[in-house]
Amino acid sequence: MKSLLVLPVLFAVALSSYNKEKELDWWETTIFYQIYPRSFKDSNGDGIGDINGITENLEYLKELGIGATWLSPIFKSPMYDFGYDIADFYAIQEEYGTIEDFENLMAKAKELDIKIVLDFVPNHTSNESVWFEEALRGHEKYFDYFIWEDGVVDENGVMHPPTNWVSALRKSAWEYREEVGKYYLHQFVIGQPDLNYRNPDVVEEMKNVIRFWLEKGVADDPDNYDYLNHIYTKDLDETIEMVFQWREVFDDFKEKDGLSRVMMTEAYTTPKMAMKYYGNRDRKGAQMPFNFALISDVNGDSSAAEIKYALDSFLTFKPIDEHANWVAGNHDVSRVASRFSPELVDGINMITLLMPGIGVTYMGEEIGMVDGYVSWEDTVDPGGCNTDDPINYWITSRDPQRTPFQWSADKNAGFSVGNKTWLPVAADFENLNVEVQRVTEKSHLNIYKALAALRNDKIFRYSRYESVAYNEGVFAFRRWYNKKAYIVVINFRQEAYTIDLTYFENVNKKVQVLISSIQSPKNSWEVLQADKVEILGSESLVLKVLF
Ligand code: GLC
Ligand code: CA
Repeated sequence: MKSLLVLPVLFAVALSSYNKEKELDWWETTIFYQIYPRSFKDSNGDGIGDINGITENLEYLKELGIGATWLSPIFKSPMYDFGYDIADFYAIQEEYGTIEDFENLMAKAKELDIKIVLDFVPNHTSNESVWFEEALRGHEKYFDYFIWEDGVVDENGVMHPPTNWVSALRKSAWEYREEVGKYYLHQFVIGQPDLNYRNPDVVEEMKNVIRFWLEKGVADDPDNYDYLNHIYTKDLDETIEMVFQWREVFDDFKEKDGLSRVMMTEAYTTPKMAMKYYGNRDRKGAQMPFNFALISDVNGDSSAAEIKYALDSFLTFKPIDEHANWVAGNHDVSRVASRFSPELVDGINMITLLMPGIGVTYMGEEIGMVDGYVSWEDTVDPGGCNTDDPINYWITSRDPQRTPFQWSADKNAGFSVGNKTWLPVAADFENLNVEVQRVTEKSHLNIYKALAALRNDKIFRYSRYESVAYNEGVFAFRRWYNKKAYIVVINFRQEAYTIDLTYFENVNKKVQVLISSIQSPKNSWEVLQADKVEILGSESLVLKVLF
């Protein structure tokens, strides 16, 4: 008799948990690690990071607990914008390696079950691309690949650009070419003429580029192929339409082999606008429109309330059935240790890895790398050079966050055995590097690994989220699921506060420290009284709620 009663109950439980714990695709649970190939690891001593350097160190990603990496562009480029000015979308830049090196990378990635995401820059080509060169020669097909306008001649007979538009990297967005007697549009550097997406040939050509690399992946390594798109044309409906069409190309491939590709898009915009990239009921867009809240909206001066506002706003606008993502750094912005503070490195990693959604880490943030010092003479980023200002160039130069990865205390931080590196190594590398942090019990690296491991707990995949700003400094959030709950507490100020965690529902008695930031005197497993938790200046904690 009893068993008859039990059975239906079990059935019901199984059903409801099935609904809640929907099976998740690889990209929904992984951490994406951004590699800036030029600065990750130089395998041949020329001072420039390369593909073989990545292949040789893929195991490091495994060690961190990371399942996917996105690579900044590795395509053929004259490097005016370090690879974001692509001369040939179908070829690999020589100094980074060959197509065989790339295939080896894919093979190794497959062996380690690490997905590779490529960075596709659809907005423009390089001015040294065959397409642009043909355009200058008056080849009509390619002339229409770009955006041309006549100049404006003033009363003195002097020609000026068609409009006063300024490029994202300073100076006019128009450049005159005598060959054709017109100006072309470049939203970024002069070497990056914008492509004309109102021309259907361009649309088709760029889809072919996507297909080429997807097919390459399918040929030797079907499950390791994904794409990252950089979209710049400022949220036009036409831009979004392109994203939808690219998603269709991805989904065609998925239909063939059943494997999901992920599209991330970069658009610096409001949370509300960013949501458009996800798509809607009828059209699917990007799975990951990058969430730049932690980059654009807050920094080390922000109050706990401002942090809460920035994080919650993405979640507020996000479509309910899509995933959020958390990005605190990339090759375009000052490092977390410099933008927030070195003490807040662990706290920010707690946010990017434990908030609901997909975690993204820029290489070096796991060890708390600091912006390197790059003199005016050594500055190579157009963002710095274009200022023509040897004093203030560093404010807009992006070289400091691109200095070589700090592997060890060896020559050139273990990045290169060469005599010169393309950018100088940051000064603090002898103490701040992977090798040292591996053997230091409480280090950013080991905390990062603990967070990445904890993230595999179901709670962080399926649970609800609630946050609070306790005061000027302390921001906390709770993740809870069924009977389990964790609380993350981060103090953004240098003074201590005592907070009452029983504010959160079902937190009554005690909490236990699981992970604490490097300067925290609290040990793992320490049990604290929930209604009176003392948080020291810049301290960050991951706490388990005890029932
Ligand atoms: C993207 C890249 C940036 C580059 C720009 C122009 O924003 O992240 O580094 O300068 O595109 O291509
Ligand atoms: Ca090299």
